Amino acid sequence: MPPILEAEGLVKRYGEHVAVDGISFAVEEGEVFGLLGPNGAGKTTTISMLTSVLEPTDGTARIGGHDLRAEPTEVKRINGLVPQDLALYPTLSARANLQFFGRIYGLRGRELRERVDDVLEIVALTDRANEPIEKYSGGMKRRVNIAAGLVHQPRLLFLDEPTVGVDPQSRNHIFESVLKLNRERRMSIIYTSHYMEEVELLCTRAAIVDEGRIIALDTIRNLIAMLGGGVIQMGLERLDDEMLAAMRALPAVTAVTLVAPPPSPTAGVAAAAIAPTSDEGGPVDAKPAGPVVKIETRRSQDALVQVVGYLNERDVGFTSIEIFEPNLESVFLHLTGKKLRE
Ligand SMILES: Nc1ncnc2c1ncn2[C@@H]1O[C@H](COP(=O)(O)OP(=O)(O)O)[C@@H](O)[C@H]1O
Ligand SMILES: [Mg+2]
Repeated sequence: MPPILEAEGLVKRYGEHVAVDGISFAVEEGEVFGLLGPNGAGKTTTISMLTSVLEPTDGTARIGGHDLRAEPTEVKRINGLVPQDLALYPTLSARANLQFFGRIYGLRGRELRERVDDVLEIVALTDRANEPIEKYSGGMKRRVNIAAGLVHQPRLLFLDEPTVGVDPQSRNHIFESVLKLNRERRMSIIYTSHYMEEVELLCTRAAIVDEGRIIALDTIRNLIAMLGGGVIQMGLERLDDEMLAAMRALPAVTAVTLVAPPPSPTAGVAAAAIAPTSDEGGPVDAKPAGPVVKIETRRSQDALVQVVGYLNERDVGFTSIEIFEPNLESVFLHLTGKKLRE
């Protein structure tokens, strides 16, 4: 099947300022595709061009086989846009607001009523559909926004940071709606966010956008795998140089470093020098902590099996264990040297 969307070299310039600097990507039919990037990266500008809200300075896209610029009518039928802010009539009910949007798309009569009922169901607002919007929470209003983007049954839905400023309950409803639309209605979805957890949870693939460009594009799994296999932090009953060397030699382990010193002052001069001491010179903590090692791995799961196997052989117990898997936040930091939320 051809991709539902193929963007080619999209550029948006505002005078000297380049908001989007040559963005190309493809979205497969049935995919939930993430555009992940910090504020100002160019996410909204990109989807505004793809949904005919903004004219590209350069580049184009094919959507459902139609050229964005040459066949705008066809493209508009395929696309559904849920912008961050949408003008709703506060004194009218959700149902009346949605009927208004449905009429813009040419829906009338029974078809309009059925479509409105259906989208109210999708965003889980059926129970409150007849109350005026001004009584809704911010999150509920956002869900009406989403419903408005769905009334004309688009094949490709653009959601622009749909959970920003939304209460946790509505946030969960939004996640469920996205997954339901994708799995039950086979809707293709482009989801922009600066929350990496959301993209990890919802998307099959993602493009990481920074300063108007795509700096990485892959499956979530591959993006995270870029950084290697996670870190295991382990507290041990005891540790010596031979054990360190043996753990470093395990096939799934890339490095082992000591992060906390052994408790006993006899364990080594360096360790004693950095160990916290009380005024009397003895250890502060009555219950001494053992040595803690940081184990960098190719794949944390394999390394864990190998390390525990080795410790069992040597009859060394461990006192604590923590596993840190890399996530999209660390991928972004790695690629740009910046935090996603600054
Ligand atoms: N109408 C505009 N005029 C000038 N600059 C703009 C305009 N709209 C957006 N920008 C700039 O373009 C860049 C990308 O903005 P935007 O697409 O809104 O980013 P994001 O959605 O990723 O936060 C930002 O630097 C922003 O200030
Ligand atoms: Mg934006």
